[in-house]
Amino acid sequence: MAAAKPTLTDSLSFCLAQLTAAAGEGLGGGKDTATNETPLGRALLALRTRHVKAAGGIERFRARGGLRPLLALLRRAAAAGPAPSQAGSGSAPSSVESAIYDGPAPSSGPAPSSASSSSPSPPARLRKTLDLALSILANCCTEGACRTEVRRLGGILSLVTILQCVKTDSIQNRTARALGNLAMEPESCGDIHSAGAVPLLVESLTACQDSQCLQSVVRALRNLADSPQHRLALAQQGAVRPLAELLAAAPDPALTLALVRALLELSRGCSRACAEQLSLGGGLGPLVSLASHPKKAVREATILILANLCAQGLVRPALGNAGGVEVLLGELRRRRGPNGAGPASQQPLVRAVCLLCREAINRARLRDAGGLELLMGLLRDPRASAWHLRVVAALVGFLYDTGALGRLQALGLVPLLAGQLCGDAGDEEEEGREAASWDFPEERTPERAEAGSFRSLRSWLISEGYAAGPGDISPDWSPERCPPPPPPPEPAEPTSPTLGPASLRTPRTLRTPGRSPAATSEEPWGREGPALLLLSRFSQAPDPSGALVTSPALCGLLAYVTGSPGPPSPRALRILARLTCNPACLEAFVRSYGAALLRAWLVLGVAPDDWPTLRARPVRRQHRELGEMLLQNLTVQAESPFGVGALTHLLLSGSPEDRVACALTLPFICRKPSLWRRLLLDQGGLRLLLSALTRPAPHPLFLFFAADSLSCLQGLVSPTVSPALPPTIPLDLDAPSPCLYEHLLGPAPIPAPDLHFLLDSGLRLPAQRAASATASPFFRALLAGSFAEAQMDLVPLRGLSPSAAWPILHHLHGCRGCGATLGPVPPPGQPLLGSEAEEALEAAGRFLLPGLEEELEEAVGHIHLGPHGGPESVGEVFRLGRPRLVAHCARWALGPGQCPRKRALALVGLVEAAGEEAGPLTEALLAVVMGVELGARVPA
Ligand SMILES: *[C@@H]1O[C@H](CO)[C@@H](O)[C@H](O)[C@H]1NC(C)=O
Ligand SMILES: *[C@@H]1O[C@H](CO)[C@@H](O)[C@H](O)[C@H]1NC(C)=O
Repeated sequence: MAAAKPTLTDSLSFCLAQLTAAAGEGLGGGKDTATNETPLGRALLALRTRHVKAAGGIERFRARGGLRPLLALLRRAAAAGPAPSQAGSGSAPSSVESAIYDGPAPSSGPAPSSASSSSPSPPARLRKTLDLALSILANCCTEGACRTEVRRLGGILSLVTILQCVKTDSIQNRTARALGNLAMEPESCGDIHSAGAVPLLVESLTACQDSQCLQSVVRALRNLADSPQHRLALAQQGAVRPLAELLAAAPDPALTLALVRALLELSRGCSRACAEQLSLGGGLGPLVSLASHPKKAVREATILILANLCAQGLVRPALGNAGGVEVLLGELRRRRGPNGAGPASQQPLVRAVCLLCREAINRARLRDAGGLELLMGLLRDPRASAWHLRVVAALVGFLYDTGALGRLQALGLVPLLAGQLCGDAGDEEEEGREAASWDFPEERTPERAEAGSFRSLRSWLISEGYAAGPGDISPDWSPERCPPPPPPPEPAEPTSPTLGPASLRTPRTLRTPGRSPAATSEEPWGREGPALLLLSRFSQAPDPSGALVTSPALCGLLAYVTGSPGPPSPRALRILARLTCNPACLEAFVRSYGAALLRAWLVLGVAPDDWPTLRARPVRRQHRELGEMLLQNLTVQAESPFGVGALTHLLLSGSPEDRVACALTLPFICRKPSLWRRLLLDQGGLRLLLSALTRPAPHPLFLFFAADSLSCLQGLVSPTVSPALPPTIPLDLDAPSPCLYEHLLGPAPIPAPDLHFLLDSGLRLPAQRAASATASPFFRALLAGSFAEAQMDLVPLRGLSPSAAWPILHHLHGCRGCGATLGPVPPPGQPLLGSEAEEALEAAGRFLLPGLEEELEEAVGHIHLGPHGGPESVGEVFRLGRPRLVAHCARWALGPGQCPRKRALALVGLVEAAGEEAGPLTEALLAVVMGVELGARVPA
């Protein structure tokens, strides 16, 4: 071209004027089309190649009012063709061109054309003009404000009409591009759907030959897939199948990329229609191949499409056949690898891999491709905790794949599951009904809206002959002879069983004679249902103790038995029943303090979390009975020849920790006197346990268990003591005997005091010499012997506070049980060490008044270990170090009838108070357990 010479079309105003003129003319002007045709064409070309392309050109074009005439020009064309709503009836592909260039059809438009007389223009040139106008519009629609205006001016309907009427690749191309640009906004997207563009675009997918045209159409469809409803509408109008067919035809790279990008959008939240069409269109194989495409964009889109497809059970078997399992697994492995991506990018693949576990055929592929290792890696990964429930539910699919189960066990699944029973796994959305296993198509009938996986499993179990019907699955199908305990009361209304094809398929069906409808009641299937189901399966192993009879596992199971996180789980109980009946688990129940835990939690109502805080929680009768049943089963094991041998060996030759655990557990699981006597009394088990009390506790509940165990043993040794009697103080201070000292304090006492004791405080306390001198050898020597005091009327008593002196003076004058000894005793909760009570006790000892000592001790016991004293006082009393009180404390803690928590708290206080000097405590506890009243005052 020669150097730029200014032309008319350099002016935007000129071009716009041409456009306006052409549009207006079409609407009623009378100019000769033929003469304006060339300037319009030139103006359009200039607009497209210069004005609109320039920086800010689109905004300028819009601001100068270019869109209205541009659309009018197009509408003029559209008016000639049938409206989109009448699509299919009388579509005349060439009518638009003839409408524009040869005038509108006689019946349309109010403005009759005057151009019909002029010579017809060449069709190619006319098409070029329409092409240019569409191209300008499509470019304008890359700008948001233009899109808004085009929509406002009704441009969408015009474009859809052109799509319907002009079946030329280039026009379809431009129109699809304009629509695709408009569809970038949700509002326009909705309008385009409503205008009926989708079937037309789908049609051009098969009609167009040109790759660029196809790319524009594919892109328009992709942009139209902006919401779940729109995606569904697209799939239902058949948009997916031709896309899949195009993909299967091995297109050029650009179209391939466009296709996978569109399919990625369309397959989000994959509908059944979408999956079906992708599969029918032959897209699965190509997609799997494209997953290893050299171009990253193609590869990644493809992999996500495959992942999306997994949501539909109906394509998963075919997907697996096409090699999808290995692809998805490999990609998840890569993303979890050292150079992998974050959790967000793993999420769709985790979901897909878990869904692939729902069909036997894919499970086999998954297992062979190392999927179990990958799933276990997820379960171990705390960053993947949001998916743990999902992964566990997926693993349930392998319940009867013994090879896989063995592998999972070797990989450490059981302790992982047990440990996570109480854990706080993240919540994830439920899969839809269509995600249910394709192995059981009947699961997808609409009335079965519940979570599919367990139902699938159940009907699978039935169909495979593992169970005769739902009632058979509810109690575990244990191969052992351990009959399940009676289930807790079922809800009143039995779930009416719906018969699916699966149950009709097999001869042994729900309609087994004699099976009551109640037997088909649903097992509660909480969040942990899958984990419990797997654990139940593992608990049937010959020796499941290593993983299942551990403190965390038992805690998890007990939490489910008692229903503390959810509804009570009969399955958890059946697992425990199975474990307690298994001789191979006996030692583990002893070593892990599992038997003690069963008792504490179920029988006594004290869960680990309840201790040591005093939280009153009533023991449920049902729980107590279950606990007693489980302990009874353990007892059966313990008292068998095998159990006796195992326990004896453990107690005599075990590690120090095991020996203590054994001694502690024996009273719970051993009822045969010959056995517990031999092991605990003759062979030192009891002393072993007692000496362990002051050592660091190996279990957080150790002292609770120990207090319970010692008290149980006490009950075994002395079974006659009525457990109903609370260990109250055998002292009758409520009905005091008369006071003999009081009258000396009156204004005119008879006989008058012949002596006063002088305290350090200056206080003088009246006394009678004769009475005082006979009270103890000390006072006899002091008051009636050869000391100077024998002659004095005012005898100093040094180092005594008035309050401590008070009970002494009463005692000297013959008071026994008048209540004066209560005076120096501080109320419960206040320290006894350093109190006036301690001072009085010391003085009573110093003054050789054993009777008073005893009475003071009783007063301390009455106030601190009586109904108003609590377990925290027991240690405090113990600190006084008085043997009688020490024995009293031990009785308080271990005696029958005491509340187990208070008992245990008292023992904690005693152990703390005893400190390094454990001897007296050990002896006192031993005496109480053995029923030997060590220096205790026997009530009269
Ligand atoms: C289709 O549209 C694109 C984008 O406007 C354009 O680059 C291409 O040349 C067009 N192809 C045909 C065959 O019309
Ligand atoms: C478990 O204990 C219960 C209650 O004592 C009993 O009915 C059941 O038979 C026991 N199970 C076994 C296997 O001993």
